[in-house]
Amino acid sequence: MSFPLFPLLFSLILLPFFSDAQTIVGNITTGASLTAAENNSSSWISPSGDFAFGFRKLNNSQNLFLLAIWYDKIPEKTLVWYANGDNPAPLGSKLQLYADKGLVLSSPQGEQLWSSEIRDGALVNGGLMDGNGNFMVLGSNSTLWESFKFPVDTILPTQILDKGMVVSAKQSETSFAMGRSRLVFQSDGNLVLTTINLPSEHLNEPYYATGTAAGASSSPGVRFVFNESGYLFVSRENGEIYLLTQRIPASAKDFYFRATVDFDGVFALYSHPKSASNGSDAKWTSVWFVPDNICTASLVSASSGVCGFNSICSLDDDGRPTCACPKGYSLIDPNNKYGDCRPNFTLSCGDEQPGVPAEDLYDFEVLINVDWPLADYALLEPFTENQCRNSCLHDCMCSVAIFRLGDKCWKKKLPLSNGRVDPGLDGGKALLKFRKGPYIPCQRNKNKRDGTV
Ligand SMILES: *[C@@H]1O[C@H](CO)[C@@H](O)[C@H](O)[C@H]1NC(C)=O
Ligand SMILES: *[C@@H]1O[C@H](CO)[C@@H](O)[C@H](O)[C@H]1NC(C)=O
Ligand SMILES: *[C@@H]1O[C@H](CO)[C@@H](O)[C@H](O)[C@H]1NC(C)=O
Ligand SMILES: *[C@@H]1O[C@H](CO)[C@@H](O)[C@H](O)[C@H]1NC(C)=O
Ligand SMILES: *[C@@H]1O[C@H](CO)[C@@H](O)[C@H](O)[C@H]1NC(C)=O
Ligand SMILES: *[C@@H]1O[C@H](CO)[C@@H](O)[C@H](O)[C@H]1NC(C)=O
Ligand SMILES: *[C@@H]1O[C@H](CO)[C@@H](O)[C@H](O)[C@H]1NC(C)=O
Ligand SMILES: *[C@@H]1O[C@H](CO)[C@@H](O)[C@H](O)[C@H]1NC(C)=O
Repeated sequence: MSFPLFPLLFSLILLPFFSDAQTIVGNITTGASLTAAENNSSSWISPSGDFAFGFRKLNNSQNLFLLAIWYDKIPEKTLVWYANGDNPAPLGSKLQLYADKGLVLSSPQGEQLWSSEIRDGALVNGGLMDGNGNFMVLGSNSTLWESFKFPVDTILPTQILDKGMVVSAKQSETSFAMGRSRLVFQSDGNLVLTTINLPSEHLNEPYYATGTAAGASSSPGVRFVFNESGYLFVSRENGEIYLLTQRIPASAKDFYFRATVDFDGVFALYSHPKSASNGSDAKWTSVWFVPDNICTASLVSASSGVCGFNSICSLDDDGRPTCACPKGYSLIDPNNKYGDCRPNFTLSCGDEQPGVPAEDLYDFEVLINVDWPLADYALLEPFTENQCRNSCLHDCMCSVAIFRLGDKCWKKKLPLSNGRVDPGLDGGKALLKFRKGPYIPCQRNKNKRDGTV
């Protein structure tokens, strides 16, 4: 049993074969089913009782359900996997384990909403909600399907990402549809965080990477491991590891773990005391996350960046991004504060209200250390701050001018992208143009309306 040379590599390589070779006896028999019910949806529980598999009612809706796996012993019932985030199941939907098809989720009308795809001709022996939070569909001597191979937004201790596997954030706190942020263990061995341009699949430049790709001088990554003790690492071809998490300040004996790509794009490791012996303060605590500053971590060229277009990303005390529209701009979708902002005006090139001086139409908000680095269309230098402001004021293309480094003036146009508060900008000023209240020309006659200037 002792392999002094590469014990880690050995155990990692052997693990999948091990579980396949053993005959695992699940206690969910073929034909068994679960139903999405208003009060009492039943579920399949892991041997220890830590995890459950079944239906969870969506909070914002009385009648829609997710087929999910969750931590069952804690009051939050935190979801760690779900099948149908893009396609919630109506009341009365049914999950059944079929001998020839595996798991099938169907609506009360019999429409198939989701299924665990198993290879043709394979025969299902049973199912198992195992103690690690992995639901397995078992054949006579192999695992035909397992939730661990199809992660959604969360991975759990003992879970491994092979090359090509993806963890996708949900869309928002309350929407389980697929969001834009992704953790990808690439085929080149690099582990990256990136965004896609919804509704397409276009992958943007990563905003975090482990740098474990093939081709570098060191040995390339072969798999991404979340081990039993709560450590996250890329395991390399030569058996060495690239450790993401340093010391984990919680023991797996007393704490649950999960690592989640949150909808704000941060990838975080959380711990939660298994028992609430200390009263009500038992909750998920973030013990590690990347990137350190998601607002300034990268520039993404064909996308809005972390926040929406024309928005500004700032980091809160927990390392989480906050997105805010600047003055004169508002959210296009008021329910999505991570979304795009639109100006409450259009920049007129003097044609809208001829003869009205720009000074009467526009004003500037001065923001310190704010930048939209990729929206430049002109650099003017040497310029004073006043020249910079005036140039932008009278330029109907200009939405914001950045005055920095003593005499440099960058004029920028819409849409502004990758907006961020960046302390590294050394007091640089963003002069943001906005439209003053509606301009009503002053009329020197009796029709003058009150309260309008
Ligand atoms: C569900 O529970 C609520 C409150 O306990 C009750 O009013 C309702 O009748 C129940 N519905 C069903 C279908 O049992
Ligand atoms: C829920 O299920 C339990 C056990 O199956 C049953 O005793 C109880 O009456 C059910 N409650 C409701 C509200 O249906
Ligand atoms: C499977 O076994 C576990 C633990 O022994 C038990 O809690 C659970 O209810 C069983 N599930 C079914 C469907 O029999
Ligand atoms: C319901 O809301 C609670 C509290 O906001 C949250 O912890 C839980 O994850 C939510 N569950 C679902 C299925 O949305
Ligand atoms: C068990 O698996 C092996 C290898 O996948 C296969 O060759 C064999 O036929 C299987 N045995 C049964 C009984 O399915
Ligand atoms: C998990 O990985 C860490 C870091 O490599 C290691 O110290 C620890 O022993 C590992 N735990 C297990 C159970 O293998
Ligand atoms: C709370 O936890 C601390 C140490 O973690 C322990 O010393 C203390 O007795 C606990 N209090 C209660 C009420 O369990
Ligand atoms: C646009 O926003 C600015 C700044 O918030 C405000 O002063 C102005 O009245 C708004 N204009 C319109 C047309 O809402």
